[in-house]
Amino acid sequence: MLVTLNDVLAKAQRRRYAVGAFNINNLETLQAIMDATEAERSPVILSTSEGAIDYAGMEELAALAHIAARKTKLPVVFHLDHGKNYDLVVRAIKSGWYTSVMFDGSSLPLKENVHRTKKIVEMAHKRKISVEAELGAIAGIEDFVSVADRDAHLTDPEQAREFMRATGCDALAVAVGTKHGAYKFKDESRLDYGRLKRIAEAVDVPLVLHGASGVPANIKRICTQYGCEISSAKGVSDTAVKKAITLGVRKVNVDTDLRLAFDAGIRKFLKERPEVIDPREILKPAKELMTKVVRHKMRVLGSSGKG
Ligand code: G3H
Ligand code: 13P
Ligand code: ZN
Repeated sequence: MLVTLNDVLAKAQRRRYAVGAFNINNLETLQAIMDATEAERSPVILSTSEGAIDYAGMEELAALAHIAARKTKLPVVFHLDHGKNYDLVVRAIKSGWYTSVMFDGSSLPLKENVHRTKKIVEMAHKRKISVEAELGAIAGIEDFVSVADRDAHLTDPEQAREFMRATGCDALAVAVGTKHGAYKFKDESRLDYGRLKRIAEAVDVPLVLHGASGVPANIKRICTQYGCEISSAKGVSDTAVKKAITLGVRKVNVDTDLRLAFDAGIRKFLKERPEVIDPREILKPAKELMTKVVRHKMRVLGSSGKG
């Protein structure tokens, strides 16, 4: 059943769990996510990035997501992830396919971010589409040369309060020390929990944690064993994600873990079964590993059984 982001996050807010937003780029990833959704009886958010749209096409991804949503009674949100291109966000809203869009104006000057987010919110709300916005730069601690530099890029709670008031967005992506991709931390995964708590006190919409992949040890082991060079990859621990949820995070974005599972499944299969050329056979273990990863994440988020 296709629903809006507001529908799933309102329930998550009341019951204090988070819903996973998983990126789709192809049929196999979508199937793996939906298998996990059914197995866990969880709500789910299917995210399409601008890169995914370039790769597979907006209409094609929408068709996959809509068919998947039609085939289940569980709540499915079809979401545009990191819409940085204003015109693309408008296109997604006008397409009638998306039930949620993210306008990511985080790289714009604050005034421009507020202005554009507000316009997107007005346009989307007329069509009953939810809007996620972003304030602060989601990157890694090691990206910034000093602590002061890092702090300048993390979300400021008072600014978040003003941003919410001015834009009326439905969910807010915050920068509290996570980073996109497989290389998030040099040592322990530590988020800025104090900042997260202050943001949650300042704004009354659900918070979104981007860059939340965990780089699971078992998946990383298979990847490296079969030739993938990711030995220093490090993700956000399950403990850190759970703690962030106790502080108000209600949407958790995961893409890298799906990529790693896909990679692990394919590398292992091709090495062990070099005689196979049928893509359906080659991709089967990759799909199964992705389903395991998503099921695990849903349990960590507390969304299992909440669909
Ligand atoms: O937030 C980024 C997601 O992992 C999507 O990545 O832009 O390479 O599709 P992408
Ligand atoms: P990861 O790279 O940690 O999976 O984050 C994905 C994300 O934030 C998508 O918006
Ligand atoms: Zn993201």
